Amino acid sequence: MSEVLYRKYRPKTFSEMVGQEHVKRILKNAVKNNSVAHAYIFSGPRGTGKTSCARILAKVLNCSNPHDGEPCNKCENCLEIDSGNFMDVVEMDAASNRGIDEIRKIRDRVSYLPAKGKMKVYIIDEFHMLTREAFNALLKTLEEPPPHVLFVLATTNLERVPETILSRCQILDFKLISNDLVFEHLKKISKLEGIEITDEALKIISEKASGSLRDSLAILEQVQRYGSGKITLEQVREILGIVPKELLEKFVEAMFEKDLDLLFEIVQRLIMENKAFETFILETIENLLFSMKEKSDLYRRYGESLIDLADELTKLLRDLKYTDEKLTIFEVGILQISKNLPKLGSPVTEKEIQKEITVETKNKDSRETEKDEGIEKLKDYLKNEGDLDLWVALMYADISRQGSNIVLEYKKDHKLHFEIADSKIEELKLLYKRLNGEDVVFSPVYLEKKVDDLPEESVKILKKVLSIFPGKVRIEKRGDKDGEEI
Ligand SMILES: Nc1ncnc2c1ncn2[C@@H]1O[C@H](COP(=O)(O)OP(=O)(O)OP(=O)(O)O)[C@@H](O)[C@H]1O
Ligand SMILES: [Mg+2]
Ligand SMILES: [Zn+2]
Repeated sequence: MSEVLYRKYRPKTFSEMVGQEHVKRILKNAVKNNSVAHAYIFSGPRGTGKTSCARILAKVLNCSNPHDGEPCNKCENCLEIDSGNFMDVVEMDAASNRGIDEIRKIRDRVSYLPAKGKMKVYIIDEFHMLTREAFNALLKTLEEPPPHVLFVLATTNLERVPETILSRCQILDFKLISNDLVFEHLKKISKLEGIEITDEALKIISEKASGSLRDSLAILEQVQRYGSGKITLEQVREILGIVPKELLEKFVEAMFEKDLDLLFEIVQRLIMENKAFETFILETIENLLFSMKEKSDLYRRYGESLIDLADELTKLLRDLKYTDEKLTIFEVGILQISKNLPKLGSPVTEKEIQKEITVETKNKDSRETEKDEGIEKLKDYLKNEGDLDLWVALMYADISRQGSNIVLEYKKDHKLHFEIADSKIEELKLLYKRLNGEDVVFSPVYLEKKVDDLPEESVKILKKVLSIFPGKVRIEKRGDKDGEEI
């Protein structure tokens, strides 16, 4: 296959075009009734058929053998237009050629009769990108167009077109293609191409294309190139970097169960796999909607609350679009949402009870028993009024206190959070004093190895050293030897 799919399968007649029923009807009727306007605006999203449709219109108006408002696609004129060699059909891309010169050329030539065909057709893509000067020149041409000239102005940005142009053209609105239609189209083309692929896989591609047939074909091609054997849903997810469904569901569970450890773990995994948070959220939302439609396990467990979660995640998605601090906003966002979700019990199994017990004791060991009112106040302040980065950094720390020394322990994979805390120990100290009236010292520590992996004795020594030299010592674990180098 040498030609890319979406070019190979460019529709050649109105009826071959998927969707856009109203556009097809209007144009076919105009052709049959000889009432074609002299200027159309084709407005609508990318990859929904505007250029294809403009060419079909150009063909049928120049075809030597049109039938029922469609071009024959066999005569010389039709073939030449398809190959882009027909003198009387001029395509211009205003995105790459915004200049006045091109438009002047058009203006100077419109009055000549067509060289070969019946109609001169000018197709200007993305014409909202033209410069003001060029727009004005175009407007002059539109004011008194000769009868043998047709303009098709395509745009994905109708709101950027001046009123003076709009009022001189007939506007046809191209719509996004529905997922079902995209699916059917993909199915047809995979059959023609001999691509073996499951319906499930095609379905996810249709969703991913968000209404653009061009995108859907480009994705199909990508999947075909990298996949092997019969292409499955899992393969498509992998190739497109879609988060496995399992992780999405785990995330939803962790949100409802307010399982902070798991939430942070998922964040880490996204970072490590270089996944955009936005994509992750979007996929979670899609997964939630799907769960509701199909009444899946998640739905049986959390019921209508899935809607609340989807709703909150949609807002978070919007916030993320407008910030450079994506990690912080993402983390704070999911924690906040999780906090406000109703805690709904799952049908509890024995295994889960066991798990809960271990989690609880674990928390008791590391945090709960040494819960410091002052620290809680500090966290609240940071979260509500202060430095969110720092708040998140505190959330990741195992906090313990010896005398006036507060140790913030960071485990493997939390280097970033350690660094944030470490660079702000003065700020922490000042805030603590202001909120609690007490002088303390903060000592962030980063352990290359998981604390659990270190011999218990070493951990004790580490903590001891820290309590003796608060805030002055940096401990790094090097090599695999048991001994610490300080
Ligand atoms: N309505 C459609 N029916 C069938 N195929 C389509 C349709 N829309 C797009 N395609 C497929 O996508 C390809 C590109 O479509 P086309 O160039 O017509 O889109 P466009 O709307 O002009 O997009 P852009 O705004 O990016 O220029 C076509 O060659 C075809 O394979
Ligand atoms: Mg186009
Ligand atoms: Zn023809």
